Amino acid sequence: RHMEIYNDLSALGSEITKLTGISRIIVVKGDADESPETQVHLGVEAGRCLQSLLSPNTTVTVTGGSSTASMASHLASVPFDVTFTPARGGLGEDMIHQANFIVAKMAEYTGGRYEALYVPDQVSEQTYQNLIQEPAIHSVLDQIKSADIVVHGIGNANKMANRRKTDAAVKKLLHEKAAVGEAFGYYFDKKGNIVYKVRTIGLQREDVMTKKHIIAVAGGASKATAIAAYLKIAPEQTVLITDEAVAKQLLKAF
Ligand code: F6P
Repeated sequence: RHMEIYNDLSALGSEITKLTGISRIIVVKGDADESPETQVHLGVEAGRCLQSLLSPNTTVTVTGGSSTASMASHLASVPFDVTFTPARGGLGEDMIHQANFIVAKMAEYTGGRYEALYVPDQVSEQTYQNLIQEPAIHSVLDQIKSADIVVHGIGNANKMANRRKTDAAVKKLLHEKAAVGEAFGYYFDKKGNIVYKVRTIGLQREDVMTKKHIIAVAGGASKATAIAAYLKIAPEQTVLITDEAVAKQLLKAF
């Protein structure tokens, strides 16, 4: 393809938006794997995109990860109430990657409110059933399900399984099923088939499908395969903030 005509990043964004069929793809310069500056730009653009959707009483539900975290610090204060909730509980992440931590930051920067969701990573079916009956948890779950906006990251299947210290049996299964990517607890293969789902409470794929606004933020060449696969099943209202390195791979993949 005529890569040279895409010196203009917005033209590149429009072209891959058309090819993938989602609502919009915003492309920032560079490769987030190589350049911390690109990572910052992803956060700035994603933050700007979210900021433009905020209005009185907007509710936003957010997944964890370094991409959504970098977006948090680029949000600015709003003169009305907004509420942030973590999209899913207990995915096995370190504290800095946890959605609970990120929503607290988002609330701090916007002057909004947040709710935390405290759910252990591995619980028995019985404990799980009991937990979701707890009024405090139930109320956060309601807010997650009714949120106006979903903000989420997209990751590499292997990297995410390692980051979450996933047990060997599940890793083996992910390998056998050729998982390439992961988003909000769902692992999928190259074609976008869901091959494994982390059992935890919170936002489910069917909830995501019906949201009015979805912002996905993910960049870095090493995530290109995962992102291309995810875009095969992404709801069409998704806006993706990504970088040039990924965008060029998407151009080839679609
Ligand atoms: O675990 C939360 C999560 O949003 C995953 O669903 C996603 O794959 C990952 O984090 C993205 O993390 P990062 O932005 O650090 O690559």
